[in-house]
Amino acid sequence: MRVIVTENNQGIGEIVGGMLVKTVQDKPDATLGLATGSSPEVVYDYMIRAYQRGEVDFSRVHTVNLDEYLGLTPDHPQSYRYFMDTHLFNHINIPMDNTYVAEGIGYPENCVKRFREVLKHTHVDIQLLGIGEDGHIAFNEPGEVLRCGAHVEWLAESTIAANARFFECEEEVPRMAISMGMGDIMRADRIVLIASGPKKVDAIRGLIMTEDIDVHNPSTMLKLHRDVTVVIDRGLAELVGYTEE
Ligand code: GLP
Repeated sequence: MRVIVTENNQGIGEIVGGMLVKTVQDKPDATLGLATGSSPEVVYDYMIRAYQRGEVDFSRVHTVNLDEYLGLTPDHPQSYRYFMDTHLFNHINIPMDNTYVAEGIGYPENCVKRFREVLKHTHVDIQLLGIGEDGHIAFNEPGEVLRCGAHVEWLAESTIAANARFFECEEEVPRMAISMGMGDIMRADRIVLIASGPKKVDAIRGLIMTEDIDVHNPSTMLKLHRDVTVVIDRGLAELVGYTEE
C-alpha cells in the first residue's frame, strides 16, 4: 500500500484527480469506479477543470458508483445519482448512458439484482474510495461478517449521524443503502482511497498504521489488494502519527 501525504485537501484533488485523468488519457475507454461524500468533490473539480482545458475526453469512458441510498429518487438532492450528475457528469462530455449509479427506488431485491448484473459485466480500471468515520468503504459497515457482492446494508448509527449534515435533520437520513460488496471493490485493477480531517483518524490509523485486517474497520481489507494508494492531507497524517520515509 502506498501512502501519499498532501499539504491540504486541495492537494488531494490535484493528485487523485490527476490519477483519474491520466487513466483516461492512457485508456480512453476506461471504466472509473466513483464515490460520493464530500471528500471526492475536490477530485471531481479537478477532472472538470482538466476537461475544460481540453486535456481529457470522457466520451468513451464508463463509470460505476459504489452505492446509493434506498428510498431516494434520482432527482432527490441527496441521492448519489443527483450528486454525481451535479458534481461531475453534467460538466464533462461523458454520455449519461455510460454512467451507472444503482437505483434506490423499487424493490430492494430488484435493485440489488440489477446492480449485480451490471457489476458482472464491468471491469473497473481504477476505483476511487472515501472512508467513513467507522472505516466503512462504499456502505460496507463494520460487523462480524462483511459481504462480498452487491447487497442492501443497514447504515450504522455513526454513519447516519455523520451523513445527517447533508439533510434537514437526522430522521431524514435513509436507514438503508444498496452497496457494492467488498469483493466488488477488491476486483478493481487499482484503488485510491482519500481522506482528510480529524474525524477519520481512527479509520485511517487502522488502515495505514497496523498490519491487521479487522472486520470492525472494513477499509483494512484493502491491505490484501496489490495496488492501493491512500492519499491523506498533512493534518490527518500528523494526527494518526504517520511520518513519510
Ligand atoms: C458515505 C459514502 C462513502 C463515503 C463516506 C464518507 O457514507 N457511502 O462512500 O466514503 O460517506 O464521506 P465524506 O467524504 O463526506 O466524509
